[in-house]
Amino acid sequence: MTDLLSGRRHVVAADRTAVPSGVRGDARRRRRLGLIVAAVLVLVLVVTGLAVVAGDGVEDEPRAGAPPPSAPAAPDRPTLRELMPSGVRIGSAVDGRPLSLDPAYRALLGTEFNAVTTENAMKWRSLEPSEGVYVWAGADQLVEFAEQHDQEVYGHTLVWHSDVPTWVSPQWPAERVRSALKDHVTEVVSRYRGRVWAWDVVNEVLDEDGSLRDTLWLRKLGPGYIADAFRWAHAADPGARLFINDYGVEGRSRKADALLKLVGELRRDGVPVDGVGFQSHLPWDAPPPDLTANLRRFADLGVSVAITELDVRIELPVTPAKLKRQAEVYRDVLRSCLALSACVSFTVWGFTDARSWIPGYHRGYGAACLFDEDLRPKPAYSALADELGRLTRPTAAPAETP
Ligand code: G3I
Repeated sequence: MTDLLSGRRHVVAADRTAVPSGVRGDARRRRRLGLIVAAVLVLVLVVTGLAVVAGDGVEDEPRAGAPPPSAPAAPDRPTLRELMPSGVRIGSAVDGRPLSLDPAYRALLGTEFNAVTTENAMKWRSLEPSEGVYVWAGADQLVEFAEQHDQEVYGHTLVWHSDVPTWVSPQWPAERVRSALKDHVTEVVSRYRGRVWAWDVVNEVLDEDGSLRDTLWLRKLGPGYIADAFRWAHAADPGARLFINDYGVEGRSRKADALLKLVGELRRDGVPVDGVGFQSHLPWDAPPPDLTANLRRFADLGVSVAITELDVRIELPVTPAKLKRQAEVYRDVLRSCLALSACVSFTVWGFTDARSWIPGYHRGYGAACLFDEDLRPKPAYSALADELGRLTRPTAAPAETP
């Protein structure tokens, strides 16, 4: 038989003893060689196989500047900002840390939202930790990011009872408190004149029973501080939309009634209140039943309305049923906003569970956002995209913002 590898002829014998030793030796050498070749072949196959399965390991280490492996692939679906009808912004609160450090966070923020709110960077304590010394970096970073991504900036917040810098002393005489507050509002609004679309001028001025919240500003300056803050902000940037923002006012309640009365009075007194912000920090199982009707009665005052800080916290553990219910709450709030041409923006208070205030403040609750900890869209995200996809309202319609 002719050997295909060497071309040399072979002699095959039934009884080994009949074969001369030299020939037997050759045969043994050929068999050993064959075994070695086969073993090498198997080894090569195994090694290559392993390399294919595990990858070369190098890929696991994100290359410098390369998006981390968790970076969401470019969505092969229209994003929320692409689906949103004109005249209504889809926004998110932004945490400065991931904005600086996390390319995946930045990528999603830039592609999904056409409006951004500073979660903390524009609060008085962050901006002016010591008197007259301003720290603009965090706020500037977000405004620049927004301008690079064609997003509107919603400034949060100028006058609030929380996050007041420690150098503002309750011992001060009223006049000093007043000038410090006026200087702060004027300084901040002037700096971002024409670059911030809207401001939460005053935040959470009402207590749960609808009375004016007992704050340093109320104690020192009386209820007039609210109107003054709006006038100072308007003087610093006449083009910015000015909002009064609160929570627990999404459905009809004593607090919502009090806010409606306050806004009506301010408008009647010519105070430049352009809009009302409904924070909407909602529980997954008890959303406000009459949100649309409540928003409408504010819109009937001639102001814009906005969902400013939406999140839907889930009582842990998270289950598919709770995620489904959460998705319906997000969908319903969006529907309420889209039902009114006066609703000019729909903002979530952070878009990923990895960066949410809820677990720290609402013990036993979490998973409140549209994307999970790994930036994967949750049923709530799909519900919003689905609702926007169904929209009959023409997307090209010119904005009707009042
Ligand atoms: O930046 C400091 C950090 O340097 C320090 O090490 C750390 C530990 O104390 O604190 C960090 O500051 C925290 C800041 O968030 C940034 O993470 C503050 O302590 C913490 O109080 C602050 O919480 C924010 C809270 O407002 C108070 O300003 C939440 O992130 C923010 O989501 C929350 O947002 C409010 C809205 O402004 C108004 N409506 C309700 C909403 C939820 O409470």
